[in-house]
Amino acid sequence: MADKFENASSLEMNHSGKRLTKGVARRRILVGGASVAGVAATFLAGRAQANTQKPLEPKVATDRNGKFAGKVVLITGATSGIGEATARAFAKEGAIVHFCGRRSTLGEKIAQEINAQGGRASYQRADVRSEQDVKSFIDTCVQKYDRIDIAFNNAGAESKPATIAERSLQDWMDSLNTNATGVFLSIKYEIPHMLRQGGGIIVNNASVSGHVGFATIAPYSASKHAVISLTKVAALEYADKNIRVNSISPGAVDTPMLRRALAAWNTNFKEVSQDYPIKRIVNVEEIARAVMWLSSDEASCITGMDVDATGGYLTK
Ligand SMILES: NC(=O)c1ccc[n+]([C@@H]2O[C@H](COP(=O)([O-])OP(=O)(O)OC[C@H]3O[C@@H](n4cnc5c(N)ncnc54)[C@H](OP(=O)(O)O)[C@@H]3O)[C@@H](O)[C@H]2O)c1
Repeated sequence: MADKFENASSLEMNHSGKRLTKGVARRRILVGGASVAGVAATFLAGRAQANTQKPLEPKVATDRNGKFAGKVVLITGATSGIGEATARAFAKEGAIVHFCGRRSTLGEKIAQEINAQGGRASYQRADVRSEQDVKSFIDTCVQKYDRIDIAFNNAGAESKPATIAERSLQDWMDSLNTNATGVFLSIKYEIPHMLRQGGGIIVNNASVSGHVGFATIAPYSASKHAVISLTKVAALEYADKNIRVNSISPGAVDTPMLRRALAAWNTNFKEVSQDYPIKRIVNVEEIARAVMWLSSDEASCITGMDVDATGGYLTK
């Protein structure tokens, strides 16, 4: 891992094409890896706290007359991280949430917890790489709840760090299948229901990696660029059908994915947060609220846009 670091950092350029100093280049790679790389680890839990804000989600009971009362919200990949937080946040505001992921035990547990708190949620096992699974997941939502008002196409997975020459075709395809084809399939099967019901709202989860290149994560970066392209094209295709399609680009958010990534890169929250103008790691609840804003009437004239939720990284 250390060798890869040094090799990659010696090639790193900034956005103007200038060669970066080794230290700066190394940190940029770390930040890219932080959004994407991955091996399981929990060792960061202690160190991470120093630079993480407390969850901002207010401790309130479910409000069935809340801001999204009666809205049907479909979420891919809500068995952990940003998807889970967004499912819980929508449910607290009165929405009916139908979500997927591959880990059934976690999915059932999260649905039970939401329902026990007075919310309404259902979990269905679905793998977004499978056209049959995605179609079944979306059609089941409509069979159960008659419609899909809001779809958050969130499911995604990190790439293992490797240069392009070292990357296997299978590895490349795995990332593209989950992150890009998964979003394509989701939009493909959501749109007919939204057309039938006279409108709808789609938010896709992209990434800072969908805007800039990070050395050693080509599949993740390419797949997230694809998410932003899909967002723009879908927005144009259905703008006059009362369907809004936007994306959101988080930077470094405290999720299991980020913790796996930091472990893979042997770094920590404190170091990574220094590359972001807000100098901290974002909470999942903050991303949930940005998704909810894009999904609300307050964003009624916004379509085809990507929201920079990095805390200023893309402004630099
Ligand atoms: N955390 C960050 O810093 C960050 C930054 C930028 C963008 N993002 C994006 O945010 C999204 C959520 O990531 P996260 O950070 O919340 O990571 P996470 O905690 O690992 O959550 C990923 C979710 O996606 C699901 N998923 C992965 N592959 C799937 C598949 N083939 N089919 C169905 N579901 C699948 C996972 O469920 P199962 O494992 O149960 O299938 C899980 O619920 C991703 O698209 C990621 O690229 C994250």
